Amino acid sequence: MQKLSNSIQLAHCLLKDRLNEAKIIVDATAGNGNDTLFLAQNALNNAQIYAFDIQKEAIENTKALLIKNKDNINLPLENISFIHDSHENIDNYIQTKIDIAIFNLGYLPGGDHKFTTKDDTTLKTIDKILNNLNINGYVAIVMYPGHEEGSKEYQSIKLFVKDLPKKSFTVGWYKMINHNFNAPALCWIEKVGEYA
Ligand SMILES: C[S@@+](CC[C@H](N)C(=O)[O-])C[C@H]1O[C@@H](n2cnc3c(N)ncnc32)[C@H](O)[C@@H]1O
Repeated sequence: MQKLSNSIQLAHCLLKDRLNEAKIIVDATAGNGNDTLFLAQNALNNAQIYAFDIQKEAIENTKALLIKNKDNINLPLENISFIHDSHENIDNYIQTKIDIAIFNLGYLPGGDHKFTTKDDTTLKTIDKILNNLNINGYVAIVMYPGHEEGSKEYQSIKLFVKDLPKKSFTVGWYKMINHNFNAPALCWIEKVGEYA
């Protein structure tokens, strides 16, 4: 398993420790449900997971994957909310503080590219989550600069996170230095102090 050349696996590694303590967990882009399944397999049995996607099919695929694996997850299925809506409406669904969020951006491999994530809504959601993140909470963002919308999103996220105040957040940026510029990249954010 080559963890360092796979930004998703690296994101999972970073999130795994925090999942031992997290109560409120967000998968902002459910897709086929692989990230939601990872979260459910490592979460506390009383955690609550919220999985968002704008595609009904993605929500159905995610739900089906979790049902199929219901005996191999750590929490009851009822603790997972499958939400067919844009993540930018997150505040309609979660009013409490958030401990962990993951964004696996772009479009579904083999899916319709018109359903790709867009920089304006992604940034709006990241900002909402950062405002509502518990101290010691984590956000992982996997980005795909290899397509036009993904490249725009990558640049916008970079500009946004580099100016986050360091008294409130520690921000890491992972890019493989000996790979093509278009290789997937990872941004991770840890909340270390109040953010107003
Ligand atoms: C790369 S896929 C996610 C992969 C997924 N996490 C998995 O494990 O299979 C990106 C997903 O983001 C979804 N998406 C795009 N814009 C969105 C939005 N504004 N809110 C929520 N989901 C969105 C797409 O429909 C697509 O399913």
